[in-house]
Parts: sequence; structure tokens; C-alpha cells
Amino acid sequence: AQAPVLTLDGPGGAGKGTLASALACELGWRLLDSGALYRLVGLIALREDLDADNAADCAEAAEAARGLDLVFEPDAGEGQRVLLAGEDVTEVIRSDAISDAASKWAVQSAIRQALLSRQRDFASPPGLIADGRDMGTIVFPDADLKIYVTASAEERASRRHAQLSGSGVDANLERIYREILERDARDASRVVAPLKPAVDAHVIDTTGETVSASLERVRGLVRENG
Ligand code: C5P
Repeated sequence: AQAPVLTLDGPGGAGKGTLASALACELGWRLLDSGALYRLVGLIALREDLDADNAADCAEAAEAARGLDLVFEPDAGEGQRVLLAGEDVTEVIRSDAISDAASKWAVQSAIRQALLSRQRDFASPPGLIADGRDMGTIVFPDADLKIYVTASAEERASRRHAQLSGSGVDANLERIYREILERDARDASRVVAPLKPAVDAHVIDTTGETVSASLERVRGLVRENG
């Protein structure tokens, strides 16, 4: 029998990462943070100075994506560390530069294609929580439960701002908000795998809601779904 798959898609900052890791922890299922794969491609491309508009560079990036030497390692909390060829890049790949590079490379169909089977390989017993943009639409169209998590752009910007301020970074709310709108537009308007809820997805709007309230709603869907 195939392992059950629960997909959580939505724009950045909507809270799906937090919900996904909490849920994976509770259920004892594997967690696929697909955004991390795109971030690793962005990191490699920056390090190798690859240009997404150059065909040879694109082919090189796709090759790197196919051979991605990646390990998700459980850490002390609910999160996981990201190892690229043994190097711990967990924090490195969260920078704004990498966020930007990831979303630029994510529009390339050769990159998306290269990552497809890597992502599907994560589905194994007892089950998988898949977190991303196209988990329910493209990567796991037959998922047992699909959830689309969203929140207003203002709310997502202020969460990101609070997160950065909390870690001592002097962040500008207005600029974060503008970047979120730009990234949303890029994710939603791209030709391959645009960000949108699967037709059979349950949509959860977390605007003005605490993490535990959102988590309780997701648990409700999991229970209903058996
Ligand atoms: O979720 P996260 O912010 O880590 O994703 C980084 C970028 O990777 C996103 O802005 C998006 O462009 C891309 N991405 C994607 N498809 C996924 C996950 C992430 O295109 N399934």
C-alpha cells in the first residue's frame, strides 16, 4: 500500500511550515520541506555564479538539482536541520538573498522537473507531510488530504518582521511587505506550477489567528479525514 500523504501549500509566511512540522511531529510522519530544495538550488546557483537566463547555466543548475546531496536531520525541537553535502546550511538558506534566488530558479521548468522524483521519494510509511507551493497540485495530486494555508500579505509581512526583529535583525516592514507582494506575484503568475489551491484542497486563512488555533483546525481536518 502507498504511504498516506498530507499536503500543505500556500504563500510564504502563511504559517504552513510551523503547522507542517508540528503535525509531522504529532503523527510521527516524515516531513518534506520542498521550499528547502528550491533554496538549495538557489544557494548552489549563487555560489557557482549561475545565471537563470543562460541556457548552459540552467542545464548546470538542473543537473545540480537532480544530484542534490541533501539530508533533513531531525533537531532537538520540532524542526529539522538541512545538510547539503554534509554542510549544515539551515540558517544560510533562510537569508533574503537565498529566498530571492530560490523563487527565481523555481520558475524554471527544468529545475522543477529535476526535483520532482526527489520530492516523490519522500512518501514512505507511516506517512508524509509535504509542505510547499505545488504539493497538492503537481507533486502529490493523489494526496489523501490537501490543505491550502493562507494569510493576508500584511499579516505575513508583520510575522516576518517580528521574526527578524526577534533575532536581532534591523528589518524594514515596508520593504518586507513589498518583497512579499513581489514574490507572491512571481509564484502565482509563473507558467509552471503556479501557486494556487488544488481544486480539492481545504483552504485555511490564518490571518489574526494564533498558531495553536490554526493547528487545531488542521487537526480537525486530519480527524475528519480518518
Ligand atoms: O517555502 P519557501 O519560502 O522556503 O520556498 C522558497 C521558494 O521556493 C518560494 O518562494 C517558491 O518560489 C519556491 N517553491 C516552489 N515550489 C515549492 C516550494 C517552494 O516553487 N513546492
